[in-house]
Amino acid sequence: MPKLYALKVNHLFYDVEYFTSISSTSTYLKNKKELREGMTVVAAKQTKGRGRDGKKFYSPSGGLYFSFVLKPDEKIMSYITPLVGVACREAISQLGGDDVRIKWVNDIYLDDKKVCGILAETKIIGEDKFVIIGVGINTSKPRFGFNKKIRDIAGIVCSDVPNENLNTQILNIVEKYYKKFNKAQLLDKYRQFSNVEGRSVIIKSTGEKGKVKGIDDEFRLVATLQGGTEKTLLSGEIEFTD
Ligand code: BTN
Repeated sequence: MPKLYALKVNHLFYDVEYFTSISSTSTYLKNKKELREGMTVVAAKQTKGRGRDGKKFYSPSGGLYFSFVLKPDEKIMSYITPLVGVACREAISQLGGDDVRIKWVNDIYLDDKKVCGILAETKIIGEDKFVIIGVGINTSKPRFGFNKKIRDIAGIVCSDVPNENLNTQILNIVEKYYKKFNKAQLLDKYRQFSNVEGRSVIIKSTGEKGKVKGIDDEFRLVATLQGGTEKTLLSGEIEFTD
């Protein structure tokens, strides 16, 4: 049974369920027959945490794992992912003091280590289109260390900050940017916090190599490939090679 979890959130995210263990907070919301904007699910650990592209998201006790529901207007639907990325970046930096950066599309990095992953999925119920956003943050070193697969790339943030406080801060910042949505402001912040500009990368899906030129006005990644062709990516994954 879910427990009540006291987040001192403003208005939107008042409906919070808390689990000491769950398969996945995002799967739990996805399986609900009814969704309401603002529904939030938090878990102390996940047994089947999911990442993007069908990957597993290692979710042992100690980290912060939560998912929440938004029902955005069509015109802001495609900006929800960067909005949550900016909110996570801001909250982590404010509370933990670390200058974390957004690695396109929306991983959060501290130096060259990933500290936070964000998964946005849509669910249509009747006429209503919802987005379920899942956030996973490594806020402490797992008791038995990180899983072998991610040991070299995973980092930790906000280890001295109670998870509830970080959770609250992120949701309050999401609410702030969501309610007064301003694309130009979001784009400015996204670019300011991004760590990709000028980096040499490989595009995971195609194996193409190039250098990142920047983020365009639709939050797409623009890269100059070896040979000089320009490539614009709406989604996908890049790996730094420099
Ligand atoms: C990624 O890095 O690929 C995205 C990871 C998203 C993980 C979070 S943890 C809470 C929510 N529940 C899940 O199963 N996944 C998301």
